[in-house]
Amino acid sequence: MRVLLTGASGQVGSALLRLLRKKYTVIAPASREFDLSQPDTLADRLDSIKPDLVINPAAYNWVDQAEDESALAFLINGTAPAVLARWAAAQGVPIVHFSTDYVFDGSGGRPWQEDDPTGPLSLYGQSKLAGERAVREAGGAHLVVRTAWVYAAEGVNFMRTIIRLAKQHETLRVVSDQFGTPTTAGTVASTLVQILQQGEADLGKVFDRAMGLLHVTNSGWTAWHGFASAIVQGVRSRGVVLKATSIVPIASKDYPAKAKRPANSQLDLSRLKDVYSIEPPSWETALAEELDTFLALDRSTV
Ligand SMILES: NC(=O)c1ccc[n+]([C@@H]2O[C@H](COP(=O)([O-])OP(=O)(O)OC[C@H]3O[C@@H](n4cnc5c(N)ncnc54)[C@H](OP(=O)(O)O)[C@@H]3O)[C@@H](O)[C@H]2O)c1
Repeated sequence: MRVLLTGASGQVGSALLRLLRKKYTVIAPASREFDLSQPDTLADRLDSIKPDLVINPAAYNWVDQAEDESALAFLINGTAPAVLARWAAAQGVPIVHFSTDYVFDGSGGRPWQEDDPTGPLSLYGQSKLAGERAVREAGGAHLVVRTAWVYAAEGVNFMRTIIRLAKQHETLRVVSDQFGTPTTAGTVASTLVQILQQGEADLGKVFDRAMGLLHVTNSGWTAWHGFASAIVQGVRSRGVVLKATSIVPIASKDYPAKAKRPANSQLDLSRLKDVYSIEPPSWETALAEELDTFLALDRSTV
């Protein structure tokens, strides 16, 4: 099977590349060679690549910047996935696309189910919702995977930021009124690969079992403050000297950001369990593994 993978330099994309290339022929063009901000160029590129499966973790992910650059965010997150999905539907090629907890408005206290009403609070969330709708409406075999709070040993993410700040400052102030599930890129990637393996010969059928829309995160939940505390404790318990002695919980309103974030970002994982019999590890277990990987990779900087 020839798999076209976008965003292979990103967190989820690079985790997917590592796993997929063990089994499939993976074509993973750099963003300048397969540029989602130039949607008019994509159909020709797809015609020449001729994939049997398209996987699109590439995205415009700058949540605050999107408030000022909404045209670019919508081009990459909305228009480009529409082009990919229409090409895929016309060719009978299945497509996997990624979306976000930020399509929800964050109200209530229970985890969001796939079919709950959306209501993005930010332009980033609106652009991602446009993308997932376009993929679903293209009419071909598709799976839209919504994930949340993604991090990895490499890349730009909360875990790495907290470790850097904890080396520099005695006090960290971290938001304690937004709840969600820290999720490793590796968990997202390995979950998708397990799903693909449930019926490579007819992925449309496999994706239909989830009605084309699936939540994938690690299990459990916490607030950003709880996540930061676990990161600092985990790094320290692995023998790294940190300056931070105090992690102060603060309210979102005291951490002004351009884009509004949902207070409740928990994604319900029942469909993943019921349909595919997959139960991802807890966020604490996944964090422990990721910290080991981070410290093995990055000893020189800690
Ligand atoms: N990160 C999170 O916390 C989070 C949360 C919920 C959902 N998600 C979703 O999960 C998916 C994967 O996220 P991630 O964190 O792995 O992403 P990421 O690390 O930010 O990587 C984004 C990828 O998209 C590529 N890209 C950006 N602009 C592009 C363009 N114009 N053309 C082609 N490629 C382009 C980047 O390539 P370059 O490196 O060349 O720029 C990079 O490979 C995305 O759909 C994201 O919206 C992420």
